[in-house]
Amino acid sequence: MTLASGVQPRALGLAKYRGEFPIFRDRVYLNTCSLGALGERSRRKVAEFLDIWQSRGASAWYDVWWEALEDLRRRYGRIVNAAEGPAEIALAPSISVALSAVAESLDYKKRPKVVITSLDFPTVAYQWLAKVRKGIELVVVESPDRIGVPVEAIARAVDDRTALVVTSHVYFTTGAIQDIKRVAQVTHAHGALCLIDAYQSVGQIPVDVQDAGVDALVAGGLKWLLGGPGIVFLYMRQAVARHLEPGISGWFGQREQFAFDPRALTFHDDARRFELGTPSLAAVYAQLGGLEYIDEIGVPAIRETTAALTEDLIATVRAAGFTPKVAPEPERRSAIVMIPMPDPAASVRHLAAGGIVADSRPGHVRFSPFFYNVQEDHVRATERLASQPAH
Ligand SMILES: Cc1ncc(COP(=O)(O)O)c(C=O)c1O
Repeated sequence: MTLASGVQPRALGLAKYRGEFPIFRDRVYLNTCSLGALGERSRRKVAEFLDIWQSRGASAWYDVWWEALEDLRRRYGRIVNAAEGPAEIALAPSISVALSAVAESLDYKKRPKVVITSLDFPTVAYQWLAKVRKGIELVVVESPDRIGVPVEAIARAVDDRTALVVTSHVYFTTGAIQDIKRVAQVTHAHGALCLIDAYQSVGQIPVDVQDAGVDALVAGGLKWLLGGPGIVFLYMRQAVARHLEPGISGWFGQREQFAFDPRALTFHDDARRFELGTPSLAAVYAQLGGLEYIDEIGVPAIRETTAALTEDLIATVRAAGFTPKVAPEPERRSAIVMIPMPDPAASVRHLAAGGIVADSRPGHVRFSPFFYNVQEDHVRATERLASQPAH
C-alpha cells in the first residue's frame, strides 16, 4: 500500500483490535479525544457488574467491589508510574470534581495566585474563577501561536505569591504536547505546586509522574483510557497529599470510614483523602475493561502506532489541500488534528451523514485517531470533508 506519509506499515499492527470495537462495523470513528470507542471488553465488564449486583446485592461490596476499586487504583498507578501505587490515586467522578477537591485544599493567604494557560480546558479555570471574589488571582498565560505555550512564558508568570500552576499535558484544541517536567521545575523554583490536566494524554502517550516531578495529575476514562464517562483519577504525590486538608470531604476520604463517627475527621494519609462519596461502580467496571486493552498493548506501543497514524492523517489532509493546525515538530504532536473550516458544525454534520464521526471546536473540525484506526479511515474522512458543497 502507498502511504501518504511514508509511515511504516509495521507501526500499524494494532488494527487487529478493531474488530472488538463494534462502532467500526458501520462507521469511521475519529473522535477518541471526545470519547473513546466502546470495546467489547468494557461491555463485558459492565455486564459482569450488573450480574453481581443482581445476584448478590450489597453483599458484593465486601469481597468483590471493594477489591475492584483497589485493583483500579493499582492498575492506574502503574500506568502513570506512581511511586506509592494505589495510595497515591484518588477516584473521582469527573475532572471538575477532582480539581475542586484540590482547589479547596490550598492555603491562599500568602499565595493567592493560580497560574493556568489560555489553551487549558476551561473547567480548569472555573475552579479558581469561582474564587476570585474571595481574593484569588487567576493568571492566564497566553499562547503566542495558539498551538502551545512556551514554558518560559509560564515561568515568567510564577512568583513567590503563586500557590499552584495548572496546565495540560496535551492541549485539547491543538494536540500539542507540553513539557510537563520543565513546567514542574519552573513551578517548584518558587515553591508552588504543579497540577497537570492529563485527560488528553494518559492512555495515548506515556506518562511518568515520578520522572516529570509533578505534584498532582488528573486523567480519566472518557477518552484515551477507553473507560467511558464517570471515572477519573487524581494522582497526588504522597508527601504533598498528607499536608493538604481538603475543604470539601466525604466518607470515602476518611481512614476511619466505618467508624461512622460524625464528630471527627480522620483523613487518609495520602491521595485518597480527596475522595468524596460512593464511586459509580458501572463506570469502575467499564474502566477495568478499557484497561485490559491499555495494559495488554502497553502505552509505548499505543504511542508508536498512534503517532504513525497522526502523521499519516496530517499528510492525507494536506494532500487534499487542507492546512491542519498542529505543532510544527512531529514529536510535539499527539493524536488530535485540527482542520480549519469556515463552518465546522456543518462539516461535522456532513461527515456524520457520510458515516464519519468527528467533532468541532471553534473554527475547526477535529479528528483524533487511536490504535484501532486504519489509514483507510483517513482517506474516507478526508474525501468526505473535501466533498462538502461549500468547500
Ligand atoms: C483536557 C480536558 N480536561 C477536562 C475536561 C472535562 O472534564 P470533566 O467533564 O470530567 O470535568 C475535558 C473534556 O472533556 C478535557 O478535554
